[in-house]
Amino acid sequence: MADMQGIDWNEVWKSWRSEHAFLNKDSKFWDARAQTLAERMLKRGSAYAERLLKIIEPEQDWTIVDMGCGAGTLAVPFSEHVKAITAVDFSGAMLEILEKRCREGGISNVRAIKASWDDDWSKAGIGLHDVAIASRSLAVEDLRHAMIKLSRVAKRRVYIVTFVRRKEEEKRICEAIGREPNTGPDYICNYNLLYQMGIHANITFITEKGPKTFKDHDEALDLLKRKVDGISGEEEKKLKAYLEKHLINDRGRWKLDYQEPMKWAVIWWEKEHDTNM
Ligand SMILES: C[S@@+](CC[C@H](N)C(=O)[O-])C[C@H]1O[C@@H](n2cnc3c(N)ncnc32)[C@H](O)[C@@H]1O
Repeated sequence: MADMQGIDWNEVWKSWRSEHAFLNKDSKFWDARAQTLAERMLKRGSAYAERLLKIIEPEQDWTIVDMGCGAGTLAVPFSEHVKAITAVDFSGAMLEILEKRCREGGISNVRAIKASWDDDWSKAGIGLHDVAIASRSLAVEDLRHAMIKLSRVAKRRVYIVTFVRRKEEEKRICEAIGREPNTGPDYICNYNLLYQMGIHANITFITEKGPKTFKDHDEALDLLKRKVDGISGEEEKKLKAYLEKHLINDRGRWKLDYQEPMKWAVIWWEKEHDTNM
Protein backbone atom coordinates (compact mmCIF):
# COMPACT_ATOMS: atom_id res chain seq x y z
CA MET A 1 0.00 0.00 0.00
CA ALA A 2 1.27 3.51 -0.77
CA ASP A 3 2.63 5.28 2.32
CA MET A 4 0.57 8.46 2.53
CA GLN A 5 2.35 9.63 5.68
CA GLY A 6 5.65 9.32 3.86
CA ILE A 7 4.79 12.15 1.48
CA ASP A 8 6.21 15.49 2.57
CA TRP A 9 3.63 17.91 1.14
CA ASN A 10 5.89 20.89 1.66
CA GLU A 11 8.48 19.17 -0.54
CA VAL A 12 5.80 18.38 -3.14
CA TRP A 13 4.91 22.09 -3.18
CA LYS A 14 8.56 23.19 -3.32
CA SER A 15 9.51 20.89 -6.16
CA TRP A 16 6.41 21.85 -8.16
CA ARG A 17 7.27 25.53 -7.78
CA SER A 18 10.92 25.02 -8.61
CA GLU A 19 9.96 23.16 -11.79
CA HIS A 20 7.62 25.98 -12.78
CA ALA A 21 9.77 29.07 -12.44
CA PHE A 22 7.08 31.16 -14.14
CA LEU A 23 5.02 30.89 -10.94
CA ASN A 24 7.58 33.01 -9.11
CA LYS A 25 6.34 36.49 -9.95
CA ASP A 26 8.09 39.43 -8.39
CA SER A 27 6.52 42.69 -7.23
CA LYS A 28 7.25 44.32 -10.63
CA PHE A 29 5.04 41.72 -12.32
CA TRP A 30 2.18 42.54 -9.95
CA ASP A 31 2.83 46.31 -10.22
CA ALA A 32 2.41 46.05 -13.99
CA ARG A 33 -0.82 44.10 -13.63
CA ALA A 34 -2.30 46.13 -10.78
CA GLN A 35 -4.64 48.32 -12.84
CA THR A 36 -6.02 45.54 -15.06
CA LEU A 37 -6.36 43.16 -12.15
CA ALA A 38 -8.09 45.79 -10.01
CA GLU A 39 -10.61 46.42 -12.81
CA ARG A 40 -11.25 42.71 -13.24
CA MET A 41 -11.54 42.19 -9.48
CA LEU A 42 -14.00 45.06 -9.26
CA LYS A 43 -16.18 43.33 -11.84
CA ARG A 44 -15.92 39.76 -10.57
CA GLY A 45 -14.37 40.25 -7.15
CA SER A 46 -17.41 41.58 -5.32
CA ALA A 47 -19.34 38.30 -5.61
CA TYR A 48 -16.23 36.48 -4.38
CA ALA A 49 -15.83 38.87 -1.44
CA GLU A 50 -19.51 38.47 -0.53
CA ARG A 51 -19.19 34.69 -0.50
CA LEU A 52 -16.11 34.91 1.68
CA LEU A 53 -17.84 37.35 4.04
CA LYS A 54 -20.65 34.79 4.50
CA ILE A 55 -18.11 32.06 5.24
CA ILE A 56 -16.00 34.11 7.67
CA GLU A 57 -18.89 36.02 9.33
CA PRO A 58 -16.51 38.58 10.87
CA GLU A 59 -17.49 40.34 14.08
CA GLN A 60 -17.61 44.10 14.31
CA ASP A 61 -14.85 44.30 16.95
CA TRP A 62 -12.36 42.13 15.06
CA THR A 63 -9.12 43.20 13.48
CA ILE A 64 -7.99 41.42 10.34
CA VAL A 65 -4.70 41.11 8.52
CA ASP A 66 -5.17 40.58 4.77
CA MET A 67 -1.90 39.19 3.37
CA GLY A 68 -1.43 39.73 -0.38
CA CYS A 69 -4.42 42.07 -0.31
CA GLY A 70 -4.06 43.26 -3.92
CA ALA A 71 -6.08 46.35 -4.73
CA GLY A 72 -8.52 45.64 -1.91
CA THR A 73 -10.75 42.81 -3.19
CA LEU A 74 -11.45 41.96 0.45
CA ALA A 75 -10.13 44.92 2.47
CA VAL A 76 -12.61 47.39 0.93
CA PRO A 77 -15.85 45.37 1.33
CA PHE A 78 -14.76 43.87 4.68
CA SER A 79 -13.89 47.28 6.18
CA GLU A 80 -17.46 48.10 7.21
CA HIS A 81 -17.84 44.75 8.99
CA VAL A 82 -14.80 44.90 11.27
CA LYS A 83 -12.89 47.29 13.51
CA ALA A 84 -9.71 47.51 11.47
CA ILE A 85 -7.86 45.86 8.62
CA THR A 86 -4.13 45.70 8.01
CA ALA A 87 -3.75 45.18 4.27
CA VAL A 88 -0.34 43.86 3.26
CA ASP A 89 1.12 43.44 -0.21
CA PHE A 90 4.58 43.68 -1.80
CA SER A 91 3.20 45.54 -4.82
CA GLY A 92 3.28 49.30 -4.32
CA ALA A 93 0.94 49.77 -7.30
CA MET A 94 -1.69 47.47 -5.75
CA LEU A 95 -1.49 49.38 -2.47
CA GLU A 96 -1.81 52.74 -4.24
CA ILE A 97 -5.08 51.59 -5.84
CA LEU A 98 -6.28 50.26 -2.50
CA GLU A 99 -5.49 53.55 -0.75
CA LYS A 100 -7.22 55.53 -3.50
CA ARG A 101 -10.31 53.34 -3.17
CA CYS A 102 -10.29 53.89 0.61
CA ARG A 103 -9.92 57.67 0.23
CA GLU A 104 -12.73 57.82 -2.34
CA GLY A 105 -14.97 55.57 -0.27
CA GLY A 106 -14.34 57.44 3.00
CA ILE A 107 -12.82 54.30 4.53
CA SER A 108 -10.51 55.09 7.43
CA ASN A 109 -9.98 51.72 9.13
CA VAL A 110 -7.73 50.13 6.49
CA ARG A 111 -3.97 50.45 7.01
CA ALA A 112 -1.77 49.52 4.05
CA ILE A 113 1.67 48.01 4.61
CA LYS A 114 4.17 47.25 1.88
CA ALA A 115 5.76 43.93 2.78
CA SER A 116 6.31 40.52 1.29
CA TRP A 117 5.87 36.99 2.62
CA ASP A 118 9.63 36.88 3.13
CA ASP A 119 10.02 40.13 5.07
CA ASP A 120 10.31 40.44 8.81
CA TRP A 121 6.67 41.08 9.72
CA SER A 122 7.42 42.54 13.16
CA LYS A 123 9.78 45.08 11.59
CA ALA A 124 7.09 45.83 8.98
CA GLY A 125 4.70 46.56 11.87
CA ILE A 126 2.05 44.02 10.92
CA GLY A 127 1.16 43.16 14.53
CA LEU A 128 -1.29 40.68 16.02
CA HIS A 129 -4.88 40.44 14.72
CA ASP A 130 -7.99 38.43 15.47
CA VAL A 131 -7.99 36.85 12.04
CA ALA A 132 -5.37 36.37 9.34
CA ILE A 133 -6.42 35.90 5.71
CA ALA A 134 -4.32 35.05 2.66
CA SER A 135 -6.66 35.07 -0.30
CA ARG A 136 -5.27 33.77 -3.60
CA SER A 137 -1.89 35.13 -2.60
CA LEU A 138 0.11 32.13 -1.41
CA ALA A 139 2.88 32.63 -3.94
CA VAL A 140 5.55 31.27 -1.63
CA GLU A 141 8.46 28.88 -1.88
CA ASP A 142 8.06 27.39 1.55
CA LEU A 143 4.41 26.72 2.31
CA ARG A 144 4.99 25.39 5.81
CA HIS A 145 6.93 28.49 6.79
CA ALA A 146 4.19 30.73 5.32
CA MET A 147 1.46 28.87 7.24
CA ILE A 148 3.39 29.28 10.49
CA LYS A 149 4.03 32.96 9.80
CA LEU A 150 0.38 33.66 8.99
CA SER A 151 -0.83 31.73 11.99
CA ARG A 152 1.45 33.70 14.32
CA VAL A 153 -0.24 37.00 13.47
CA ALA A 154 -3.71 35.60 14.25
CA LYS A 155 -5.32 35.20 17.67
CA ARG A 156 -8.56 33.50 16.62
CA ARG A 157 -8.59 32.06 13.12
CA VAL A 158 -6.54 31.71 9.95
CA TYR A 159 -8.07 31.57 6.47
CA ILE A 160 -6.30 30.70 3.26
CA VAL A 161 -7.94 30.67 -0.14
CA THR A 162 -6.21 28.75 -2.84
CA PHE A 163 -6.95 27.44 -6.29
CA VAL A 164 -8.67 24.28 -7.42
CA ARG A 165 -6.94 22.95 -10.50
CA ARG A 166 -9.02 23.41 -13.68
CA LYS A 167 -8.23 20.01 -15.12
CA GLU A 168 -10.47 20.24 -18.17
CA GLU A 169 -9.10 23.58 -19.31
CA GLU A 170 -5.50 22.57 -18.62
CA LYS A 171 -5.95 19.31 -20.55
CA ARG A 172 -7.47 21.12 -23.51
CA ILE A 173 -4.76 23.79 -23.60
CA CYS A 174 -1.98 21.21 -23.32
CA GLU A 175 -3.50 19.10 -26.07
CA ALA A 176 -3.91 22.16 -28.29
CA ILE A 177 -0.24 23.10 -28.02
CA GLY A 178 1.11 19.56 -27.93
CA ARG A 179 2.31 19.30 -24.34
CA GLU A 180 1.77 16.68 -21.66
CA PRO A 181 -0.96 17.80 -19.21
CA ASN A 182 0.43 19.49 -16.12
CA THR A 183 0.13 17.30 -13.04
CA GLY A 184 1.11 19.80 -10.35
CA PRO A 185 -0.71 20.06 -7.02
CA ASP A 186 -3.47 22.45 -6.02
CA TYR A 187 -5.33 23.15 -2.77
CA ILE A 188 -4.96 19.52 -1.73
CA CYS A 189 -1.28 20.18 -1.14
CA ASN A 190 -2.13 23.00 1.29
CA TYR A 191 -4.75 20.89 3.04
CA ASN A 192 -2.57 17.80 3.38
CA LEU A 193 0.36 19.85 4.60
CA LEU A 194 -1.82 21.35 7.35
CA TYR A 195 -2.91 17.82 8.30
CA GLN A 196 0.76 16.83 8.58
CA MET A 197 1.33 19.90 10.74
CA GLY A 198 -1.36 18.63 13.13
CA ILE A 199 -4.07 21.01 11.96
CA HIS A 200 -7.45 19.53 11.10
CA ALA A 201 -8.65 22.39 8.95
CA ASN A 202 -12.15 23.13 7.72
CA ILE A 203 -12.68 23.39 4.01
CA THR A 204 -15.35 24.71 1.70
CA PHE A 205 -15.41 25.91 -1.88
CA ILE A 206 -16.37 29.06 -3.71
CA THR A 207 -17.53 28.47 -7.27
CA GLU A 208 -17.60 31.52 -9.48
CA LYS A 209 -20.93 31.85 -11.23
CA GLY A 210 -21.12 32.52 -14.93
CA PRO A 211 -18.50 31.88 -17.58
CA LYS A 212 -15.19 33.63 -17.69
CA THR A 213 -15.43 36.17 -20.49
CA PHE A 214 -12.84 38.14 -22.44
CA LYS A 215 -12.91 41.55 -24.11
CA ASP A 216 -11.47 40.09 -27.33
CA HIS A 217 -9.32 37.25 -28.68
CA ASP A 218 -6.13 39.05 -27.66
CA GLU A 219 -7.19 39.26 -24.03
CA ALA A 220 -8.13 35.55 -24.05
CA LEU A 221 -4.76 34.63 -25.54
CA ASP A 222 -2.94 36.84 -23.09
CA LEU A 223 -4.67 35.28 -20.08
CA LEU A 224 -4.44 31.67 -21.23
CA LYS A 225 -0.82 31.82 -22.29
CA ARG A 226 0.14 32.89 -18.77
CA LYS A 227 -0.84 29.42 -17.67
CA VAL A 228 1.85 27.85 -19.87
CA ASP A 229 5.39 27.84 -18.57
CA GLY A 230 7.79 29.36 -21.11
CA ILE A 231 5.38 29.20 -24.04
CA SER A 232 7.25 29.16 -27.38
CA GLY A 233 6.28 31.17 -30.47
CA GLU A 234 5.09 27.97 -32.17
CA GLU A 235 2.97 26.97 -29.17
CA GLU A 236 1.47 30.45 -28.99
CA LYS A 237 0.38 30.15 -32.64
CA LYS A 238 -1.30 26.83 -31.81
CA LEU A 239 -3.05 28.36 -28.81
CA LYS A 240 -4.24 31.23 -30.98
CA ALA A 241 -5.66 28.78 -33.55
CA TYR A 242 -7.33 26.85 -30.72
CA LEU A 243 -8.97 30.03 -29.44
CA GLU A 244 -10.18 30.94 -32.91
CA LYS A 245 -11.98 27.60 -32.98
CA HIS A 246 -13.37 27.71 -29.45
CA LEU A 247 -14.18 31.34 -28.61
CA ILE A 248 -17.78 32.34 -29.10
CA ASN A 249 -19.32 35.78 -28.90
CA ASP A 250 -21.80 36.36 -26.12
CA ARG A 251 -23.46 39.79 -26.13
CA GLY A 252 -20.29 41.60 -27.14
CA ARG A 253 -17.85 39.60 -25.00
CA TRP A 254 -16.05 36.34 -25.76
CA LYS A 255 -16.23 33.05 -23.90
CA LEU A 256 -15.02 29.51 -24.49
CA ASP A 257 -17.51 27.06 -25.98
CA TYR A 258 -17.13 24.73 -22.97
CA GLN A 259 -17.53 25.75 -19.37
CA GLU A 260 -15.52 24.72 -16.40
CA PRO A 261 -16.36 26.95 -13.45
CA MET A 262 -13.55 28.62 -11.55
CA LYS A 263 -13.38 27.16 -8.04
CA TRP A 264 -11.52 28.34 -4.96
CA ALA A 265 -10.82 26.28 -1.86
CA VAL A 266 -11.34 28.15 1.40
CA ILE A 267 -9.36 26.45 4.16
CA TRP A 268 -9.45 27.65 7.74
CA TRP A 269 -8.66 26.68 11.27
CA GLU A 270 -9.22 27.92 14.80
CA LYS A 271 -6.11 29.00 16.67
CA GLU A 272 -7.24 27.20 19.84
CA HIS A 273 -6.97 23.84 18.00
CA ASP A 274 -3.69 24.82 16.42
CA THR A 275 -1.31 23.27 18.89
CA ASN A 276 1.87 23.39 16.85
CA MET A 277 2.08 27.05 15.95
C1 LIG B 1 -4.16 37.21 -7.37
S1 LIG B 1 -3.80 38.62 -6.39
C2 LIG B 1 -4.99 38.37 -5.06
C3 LIG B 1 -5.47 39.67 -4.47
C4 LIG B 1 -6.56 39.52 -3.42
N1 LIG B 1 -6.05 38.93 -2.19
C5 LIG B 1 -7.70 38.70 -3.98
O1 LIG B 1 -8.03 37.64 -3.46
O2 LIG B 1 -8.30 39.15 -4.97
C6 LIG B 1 -2.28 38.15 -5.60
C7 LIG B 1 -1.70 39.28 -4.75
O3 LIG B 1 -0.65 38.73 -3.96
C8 LIG B 1 0.44 39.63 -3.97
N2 LIG B 1 1.67 38.88 -3.76
C9 LIG B 1 2.19 37.92 -4.57
N3 LIG B 1 3.35 37.45 -4.07
C10 LIG B 1 3.56 38.14 -2.91
C11 LIG B 1 4.61 38.14 -1.95
N4 LIG B 1 5.65 37.32 -2.07
N5 LIG B 1 4.52 38.97 -0.90
C12 LIG B 1 3.45 39.82 -0.77
N6 LIG B 1 2.43 39.89 -1.66
C13 LIG B 1 2.49 39.05 -2.72
C14 LIG B 1 0.38 40.29 -5.35
O4 LIG B 1 1.05 41.54 -5.38
C15 LIG B 1 -1.11 40.41 -5.58
O5 LIG B 1 -1.59 41.64 -5.12
